[in-house]
Amino acid sequence: MDLTHRPRRLRRDGVREMVSETSLDASDLIAPVFVDATTDERVPIESMPGHERVPVEQAVARVKEVLETGVEAVMLFGIPESKDARGSRAWADDGVVQEATRRIAAETDAYVLTDVCLCEYTDHGHCGVVESTAESDPDLTVRNDETLDLLGKIAASHAEAGADMVAPSASMDGMVGGIRKSLDAEGFSDVPVMSYAAKYESAFYGPFRDAADGAPAFGDRRHYQMDPANRREAVREVRRDVEQGADVLMVKPALPYLDVIRDVREAFDHPVAAYNVSGEYAMLHAASEKGWLDLEAVALESLLSIKRAGADLILTYFAEDVAELL
Ligand code: PBG
Repeated sequence: MDLTHRPRRLRRDGVREMVSETSLDASDLIAPVFVDATTDERVPIESMPGHERVPVEQAVARVKEVLETGVEAVMLFGIPESKDARGSRAWADDGVVQEATRRIAAETDAYVLTDVCLCEYTDHGHCGVVESTAESDPDLTVRNDETLDLLGKIAASHAEAGADMVAPSASMDGMVGGIRKSLDAEGFSDVPVMSYAAKYESAFYGPFRDAADGAPAFGDRRHYQMDPANRREAVREVRRDVEQGADVLMVKPALPYLDVIRDVREAFDHPVAAYNVSGEYAMLHAASEKGWLDLEAVALESLLSIKRAGADLILTYFAEDVAELL
């Protein structure tokens, strides 16, 4: 046997780490946090073990728990006290995310990102303003431009409350440009935009929609989120966001779309983020509860793979648990 090439030489303890190509660090991770205006106490999220919806009064305590693990950034999602057709609680000065952001910014060193969308705030659960005929029309139209105005207001209200970065996830055309314009006009030119640039219409969002109470009451999101069949389109979508001033480019979900993360990494030199979504978290937990997978090992391997594919940052419900392992 010719042993000229013997890759196993570099797989031994001691050298294995030295030649490792990818590493995970707590500073790569962003922990999602759910703030809920409908409750006075913490409510566990059943399909996302270890996660809870917390009242505004608990937001600071919750974020401090995250910081203790070494994770430095959080992404806030809000569940409002009431919903209406236009989602008006989303840009209210005393809205749930605005209040939580103000407190977190005042009392912690966390880097605060906020999700900018309407689906948790509209009574129909869509990410924008819908036509009045929507319920009878399976191919309903979310009114793009009217929604852009609202998203701009939401982003500015988050920045006003002290958000360090805004992350629009509504998948409207022209969304990043509209938000950039609104932030600049309100004096928030220093607040970056992390765009959910390649966001697929995915069944892996199921547990999140329960957690944030944002499932569409009718229809689905196929006419605004991307078709899972499309890879080249992702680069096209991301390019549009880059042209509109996106600072960080996100691909979502992560594990089923590692090819897309790699494409975005290669096509642009911006920081790339990936969202390891609720379903990706839930399935590993479910399998490990059955004793079929080793949770710590598969969580680490998943996040490492997402980085290897090209992500610089990972939004993940595993953030705290993994940070403690690093
Ligand atoms: C929309 C939004 C969604 C998620 C993040 N932002 C849900 C959706 O698009 O239906 C999903 C995140 C996850 O599944 O973890 N505001």
